[in-house]
Amino acid sequence: MCLEGKPLSSLVERWGSPLFVVHADQLAENVRRFQQVPPGQQRGVEVFYSYKTNPIPAVLQRLSQLGVGAEVVSPYELWLAMRLGVAPGRIIYNGPGKTPSVARTLVQSDLLLTNLNHREEIALVAQAAAELGKRPTVGLRVATSDSWSGKFGIPIAGGQALAAYEEALSHPSLRVVGLHAHRGVAIEDADTLERFVREVLEFCDALHARLGLDVELLDLGGSLAVPTVLPLNDSPLPLAERVSRRLSIDGYLSLLVERVEDHFRRAGRPAPRILLEPGRAMTGNTQMLLCRVSSLNAAGEGPAHAILDAGENIAHILHREYHEIFHAERWGESPSETYTLDGPTCSPMDRLRTTIDLPRLRLGDTLAIMDAGAYLVSFSNSFCFPQPGIVVLDQGRETLVRRAETYEDMIARDLHANEASR
Ligand SMILES: Cc1ncc(COP(=O)(O)O)c(C=O)c1O
Repeated sequence: MCLEGKPLSSLVERWGSPLFVVHADQLAENVRRFQQVPPGQQRGVEVFYSYKTNPIPAVLQRLSQLGVGAEVVSPYELWLAMRLGVAPGRIIYNGPGKTPSVARTLVQSDLLLTNLNHREEIALVAQAAAELGKRPTVGLRVATSDSWSGKFGIPIAGGQALAAYEEALSHPSLRVVGLHAHRGVAIEDADTLERFVREVLEFCDALHARLGLDVELLDLGGSLAVPTVLPLNDSPLPLAERVSRRLSIDGYLSLLVERVEDHFRRAGRPAPRILLEPGRAMTGNTQMLLCRVSSLNAAGEGPAHAILDAGENIAHILHREYHEIFHAERWGESPSETYTLDGPTCSPMDRLRTTIDLPRLRLGDTLAIMDAGAYLVSFSNSFCFPQPGIVVLDQGRETLVRRAETYEDMIARDLHANEASR
């Protein structure tokens, strides 16, 4: 297997294994697709990358240079966005854990949009704004009938979201012009997107009719699924059929923009700016994780165990998602053996795939775990092993953007251990 003509195994030879490889062209291509004006429309959407999905500063900076804003959910992520030079007017702040001190930071930061996650946050931010003599632009996160709820957002059902907007509008220190609806549950097909958008647009109508509020910033969150990553065991449909029904970025964008524009044209009201916060769909397929076979254990019943140098310490998300895994050196060869792929840590939980058919494995063989650009780096930890390096491949040029963790890095914050070793 090659990427831009480079054998993947040569990348691990040069940079070590395991290794994340970011494909700059694919990243730029995904950005271009999200930023395009869909056919037949006058305008598209404004894109804000969900930082937590793949928080590699070099990737985030590239996205920013390509005109993508930042969607952040913690004071650290806000700091990082600013540190990388993202203008406050290109930042959206979300998330459920806002403390009084976070509220003050947000108010002082003059962000494009601060989305209040639940009703209790309204008074919190309004008070911080009044004290600081500011008037931040805010939206409320609403939960549709089929989106994540509970910890996230205020249900539209039962008039709860409407009541929350009424309360928010009563605070003169808040500029309430936003609406945030992130489904959370992956949007895989056009029907799901239709239902979700329709419910949000009906709520926009209710805000107009009942409270005289015309939403100016319509933030429809993320949730577009990556075509080749599937949640495990949650659908009776065969994998191939599910993949073929998946919405592309183009299809998603066209449908979404058309529905919003159409809705407001018919209603005779100005259409809001449409903001999106893609995570998985932006970076999922822009990165792979290369790893090597460390040992083979054929004892016992069932498939032989191939023990890799990457496991749940780096690829924890594979417990929940199906990702393609290829043999990097013998990609075209027909599979002849069935294996269980285990990680290197001394834990029975550390399993990446229970059964996979591959060419006969040899020690040192390289495997490529595909679509590794969402929630692998975010959830990586240093459980027993150091974390991998990250290389960006851009037009044939390899740049190490994060070196592999060293043992010294792993104890760098442990003051006593450092002192003892001196
Ligand atoms: C508020 C918010 N916006 C955007 C995203 C990105 O979602 P996705 O990766 O599904 O596009 C997330 C992730 O769950 C989120 O919590």
